[in-house]
Amino acid sequence: MSHASESLTIRRPDDWHLHFRDGATMRAVVPYTARQFGRAIVMPNLSPPVTTSALAAAYRDRIVDAVPQGMDFTPLMTAYLTDQSDADDLAAGFADGVLTAAKLYPAGATTNSAHGVTDVTNIAGVLERMAEIGMPLCVHGEVTHADIDIFDREAVFIDRVLEPLVARLPQLKVIFEHITTRQAADFVAASGPNVGATITPQHLHINRNDILVGGIRPHLYCLPVAKREEHRLALRAAATGGSAKFFLGTDSAPHHRGAKESDCGCAGIFNAPHALESYLAVFDEEGAIDRFEGFASLNGPHFYGLPVNEGTVTLEKVAQEVPAEVDGGGAMIVPFHAGETLSWRFAS
Ligand code: DOR
Ligand code: ZN
Repeated sequence: MSHASESLTIRRPDDWHLHFRDGATMRAVVPYTARQFGRAIVMPNLSPPVTTSALAAAYRDRIVDAVPQGMDFTPLMTAYLTDQSDADDLAAGFADGVLTAAKLYPAGATTNSAHGVTDVTNIAGVLERMAEIGMPLCVHGEVTHADIDIFDREAVFIDRVLEPLVARLPQLKVIFEHITTRQAADFVAASGPNVGATITPQHLHINRNDILVGGIRPHLYCLPVAKREEHRLALRAAATGGSAKFFLGTDSAPHHRGAKESDCGCAGIFNAPHALESYLAVFDEEGAIDRFEGFASLNGPHFYGLPVNEGTVTLEKVAQEVPAEVDGGGAMIVPFHAGETLSWRFAS
């Protein structure tokens, strides 16, 4: 029997940005997401990437097969854009319901992005077609030029790529994903209704000091990398401020412990196991629990033009300790908040 002093019931949320991987890792991590969320926008950066409607359909089937019996979860698939993307194939996948969106990775920006787009002018035709048919574009918003400091890459992307793109194609629905800066939050707030953003739990909790002070913490390294405290505070204000342009996208990105604790550690934070509790802690600290449902369950479907989920989830204010590691399908993964105590607990 639980002794929750407080509980919160909201409409079932969705995760609008997520990495499942494939094979044994996927089978190990899917249940964490499926128990909390009704749907998730699944990232296509497998190796090789999910570049076509047919590859997305096959990947969707493998995910559905990994959803435990009795859990009601729908993966929403994305296609990985390349310089060679075929607008007809993407449009057909969107019309069939196989694809929900397409994903722009600037080439070299992050994990498995080597096949990404080298210059958005190369996909001008694809983007025009997407704007015409109402197919949303998910954007990893970082430039990749060697001369741009890694902490400036998001802000420079806004000036050089995103602002011109949005000006040229104002009808295109653009999700500026996992935003990490005040500049990004301001840009989205000032843009028209076709520009939205997702915010991860880690960028609401940590700044760059948390990664680097007192020893390097590889499990807090992700891309875009966490910035100064000023930016974390701007993201908290955006997430909890009630604007419908900002919504939940965990960017949960599992890497096995050995791949993180390495000479060249991978980018990615595995936050799926306690994603909702992690976000709710922020809304609680900001005195904005009444705005949690909008951020988690309503704004995303509204932006994508999809119905909200049937059903609800309930969280209780009961302390729980996050495990030091979880099984990642053959090797262990260190989750976000490992070893910490969270004050909320997912109940059902
Ligand atoms: O930290 C990250 N990890 N950022 C990304 O953009 C990709 C992701 C991954 O796939 O590991
Ligand atoms: Zn991601």
